[in-house]
Formats: sequence, structure tokens, C-alpha cells
Amino acid sequence: MKIGIAADHGGFALKEQIIELIQTLGHEVIDFGALTYDAQDDYPDFIIPLAQAVTTRKVHKGIAVCGSGVGAAIAANKVKGARASVITDSYSARQGVEHDAMNIMCLGGRITGIAVAEELVKAYVDAAYTNEDRHNRRLGKVETLENNW
Ligand code: RB5
Repeated sequence: MKIGIAADHGGFALKEQIIELIQTLGHEVIDFGALTYDAQDDYPDFIIPLAQAVTTRKVHKGIAVCGSGVGAAIAANKVKGARASVITDSYSARQGVEHDAMNIMCLGGRITGIAVAEELVKAYVDAAYTNEDRHNRRLGKVETLENNW
């Protein structure tokens, strides 16, 4: 699987650790930056290109990291087709994909340590959308709004 990842300075250190983990799991990682630590950088500059790559299917799934995960989720969800959420537990990391077709998992580099992040990444990467009618129906309602406002 091809996994895109992006982070600002608040998520930079965790991003570097997650990249190693994903490679260890045998997946390809595309890094949308920041490529160096810059305490003045802005998360939209990295998160939006990641979200665009996810929604145009250049990567299969995205992981976005900022200090809290919140700004990353807000920015990513402005891109049509992005379904991003802040995740802190492995149940949501898996179920968010299975039920809600979450395609960008957002983490807080100042919130989540690497041990928990490893569990979250594994649960997220391994999960697949169920394609069940009830989930398609709910997703369709979200997409209807997205396409008509
Ligand atoms: C950057 O200092 C911080 O505000 C940002 O990474 C993030 O936490 C926003 O949600």
C-alpha cells in the first residue's frame, strides 16, 4: 500500500518515527513534508497537498500530524473527498475506516507517543471499508452535502 504522510513542526518528530514504522510494515511512504524541522512552518502547507494526493488516489491512505491533530483535520477536510479525523484510540483508527471510509488519520505529535501511535497506524493501515449498504447510505448523505453547497 502507498501511504502519504505530512506534518508541521508540531508533528515533525512523530512523522519521522511513523515513516520508519510504515516502512517496517512493508508499505511505501510518500512524504509531503515538512522535510526539515522549522518551528515557524504552517500545517496547511503540508496537509492540503497530502489531502489532494489522497483524494486524487495518488496514495491509498493519508496520515497527517500536527501538534494536536486538530488543525490537520480541519485543513484536510476542506479538500473535497477527504475524510479526516483526529484519532487517539485504536478502535476508532480501525472503525473509522471500516464504517466511515476515513482516508486521512490525524494525530497529535504533542498528544500521542510513539508506542500508541504504532498501534493506531497498524489498525488504520490494516483496516478496509466494509462497503455495507448502511455505510454507503451514510457516506452518500455526506457526499450529497459536499457536492451541493
Ligand atoms: C503549531 O504550533 C500548532 O498550532 C499546530 O501544530 C497544531 O497543533 C494545530 O492544530
